[in-house]
Amino acid sequence: MKKVKNKKGFIDVVVGLQWGDEGKGKNIDELLLHKVYSGVARFQGGANAGHTLKYGNKTFIGHIVPSGCLQKNIELYIGNGVVVDVISLIKEISELKKLGFNVSSRLYISNRAKLVSYLHPFLDRAEEFYRSIKGEKKVGTTGKGIGPTYADVRARRAILIGDILLPDFKVKETNLSEFHINFLNMYKKKYGFKFSETEIRKAKIKWLNAIKKLKKLQICDVSYLVQKRLKEGKNILAEGAQAVMLDIDFGDYPNVTSSNTLPANVSLGLGVPHTYIQNIYGVIKAYTTKVGGGDFPARIKDTSLEKLFQNAGHEFGSTTGRPRMCGWLDLFALRYAIGLSGANKIFINKADICLTNKIKVVTGYKHAGKNLEEFPLYLNQITGVVTEEILSWGYTNYGVRNKEKISSELASYLKYVESKLSDLDVKIVSVGTGPDREHFFNWND
Ligand code: GDP
Ligand code: IMO
Ligand code: MG
Repeated sequence: MKKVKNKKGFIDVVVGLQWGDEGKGKNIDELLLHKVYSGVARFQGGANAGHTLKYGNKTFIGHIVPSGCLQKNIELYIGNGVVVDVISLIKEISELKKLGFNVSSRLYISNRAKLVSYLHPFLDRAEEFYRSIKGEKKVGTTGKGIGPTYADVRARRAILIGDILLPDFKVKETNLSEFHINFLNMYKKKYGFKFSETEIRKAKIKWLNAIKKLKKLQICDVSYLVQKRLKEGKNILAEGAQAVMLDIDFGDYPNVTSSNTLPANVSLGLGVPHTYIQNIYGVIKAYTTKVGGGDFPARIKDTSLEKLFQNAGHEFGSTTGRPRMCGWLDLFALRYAIGLSGANKIFINKADICLTNKIKVVTGYKHAGKNLEEFPLYLNQITGVVTEEILSWGYTNYGVRNKEKISSELASYLKYVESKLSDLDVKIVSVGTGPDREHFFNWND
């Protein structure tokens, strides 16, 4: 009998290569216009993400709904590796409805994804409080309960999304809540962490109401569904949240998020063989930003110059509104991130923003007077950075869509970055010149 060849699709991944907020949402939105993909899948993280999508004069910030939400025929998947903030999810679905995008019919939530409980954000805050009173530095979390939820996952007591449809949900919820309340009371009585019964009661009501709505959405085996689509020859885009430098294993621990942000986790966080992965798009900004605790070696030392970048780039967190610290492009960290992620294509955003006559680029880290070869265990071990200076290009490239029309300084900068990465198997493919999905030019086609 003649064998029918199995038609096979592929998965491409979009991952941040810095400390988050590189513009992943915008790049995903743009990639979808090429009609290569039939769906977008989140595989890790939760509502700590804030992915900005701009179209016309409208803006939508997605925290948990995948960034394909603005394109009508794209399926949206929330994989088993995600911790689901049900209140954010329901809110976003209704915001999108108001904007004219009915996503419920094309959104699929894994029954194996994990539920963020109404007490996880309280625990998140309590743990930050505890760190600070014990003389440790805060991680500067988003307060969305991400760390405590993943901790429960590892301790095998988390509630799965599929549990909300089963008869023992109430028992599981009561037991988990009792466990959490014991901790919260300990933080309150022993260390003075403040919370009120009323706050908790209100949070529970809101959460249970959102769960009622969640029950009406499509909860299913996303791993099975995505595998089915791939076998049908459809291609999927996996949407990374956070970034390599915030990876729980390879970021600057403990100043990291609580999931593996690396593309290697696509397989586990969606339930698909890694052999489907084809391209890995790494996203960076022409400079670097970071929000939250921990060291930031490339940070701009001149505070008024940092403020200029902050204002010009609107560098305020999409999730918490906190100002983002601004730094120079950090090629040492970037090479580390490319090595870990396997990124073969790079998007550089925010090339429209460049201030001062000369900009710096970090090319190395120093420890005790010596240049480091390997990325250090802790960033606080660094005693200095090696920098190089490049001519700036000001604001002249805003909205430019054609490589031929960019300023010579920007072209030199891109060639410089390319030369610094030339020994790696990676290409700069496109460069962002503004927040809209049309604001970019192709560099290497
Ligand atoms: P994400 O978390 O990686 O999706 O990024 P965020 O949405 O948190 O932050 C990126 C910010 O930069 C958003 O405000 C975007 O609208 C904006 N942005 C993205 N690309 C560009 C660009 O090329 N130029 C400018 N000026 N803004 C951009
Ligand atoms: P997107 O997907 C930037 C940071 C927090 C904090 C650390 C841990 O929009 O790029 P968490 O709440 O995850 O326990 O916080 O990680 N962080 C982000 N920084 N962009 C994000 O997401 C982030 N998600 C978490 O500021 O330092
Ligand atoms: Mg963001």
